[in-house]
Amino acid sequence: MLFSNHNPIGIFDSGVGGLTVFAEVKKLLPEESVFYLGDTARVPYGSKSVDVIRRYSLANVSMLAALGVKAVVIACNTASAVALSFVQQCFPNLEIIGVIDPVVNYLRTRPELKRIGVIGTNMTIASKAYQNALLKNDAELDIVAKSCPLFVPLVEEGLFEGEITEKIIDMYLSAMKAKPLDALILGCTHYPMLRKAVYDYFGGKVEILDTAFHTAKKLAEVLTENSALNCGQKEPDRFFVTDSPDSFRLTAELFLGRKIENVFHV
Ligand code: DGL
Repeated sequence: MLFSNHNPIGIFDSGVGGLTVFAEVKKLLPEESVFYLGDTARVPYGSKSVDVIRRYSLANVSMLAALGVKAVVIACNTASAVALSFVQQCFPNLEIIGVIDPVVNYLRTRPELKRIGVIGTNMTIASKAYQNALLKNDAELDIVAKSCPLFVPLVEEGLFEGEITEKIIDMYLSAMKAKPLDALILGCTHYPMLRKAVYDYFGGKVEILDTAFHTAKKLAEVLTENSALNCGQKEPDRFFVTDSPDSFRLTAELFLGRKIENVFHV
């Protein structure tokens, strides 16, 4: 951690989806400025190999570190699943937070939730990062994991509800519906945009756990513990993307429901 309160927080994602984490961070920590890096030229990470995701993640953290961020949040669940400890070892003096531990730690406070569903990209689910972290906390948990790769393009098309969305949700989650869950972890940046549709699909009977919210809370705790909260002037948020700023701006509007400024190609 660089203990300068004025420095921005760095958030990286494979693309635009990490804006769900950005939104939660801004809600909880409005006095902080954020530098968001979306690796839009190389998205998706969810179908790539571990080595490639680590290499890309290292490049992303290196760039944010060079921009002087005081902490990094890996908003991408896939990168958090397979590259978090690798980049932490490469940057031992920088606080780097992933999205998996915060929600897993939250579940420690809810021991009555026993049957837990986890959904994410192919790599997130195949890595078993969520499953292993959950079982480490509570070996009694009954975990059902499922990759839902079509959810990402669905969300990027703005199809948050409606017939097609319901059909795709049913295709992936019918087994979870047949034997009801206590809670479902939305283990992908994009899935909070489907939160209502998924909640309704389960008839409102399954607690939906949003990793973005718990990650923002963890970031706030880390900054508070290190007396690193910004208490002075803040600079404007900036968005760095590796492909066209225009298409990022368009999808970002879908995610945030507002226009964004300061988008730079890197
Ligand atoms: N950001 C990714 C995640 O949260 C989803 C998109 C991708 O596959 O890169 O896992």
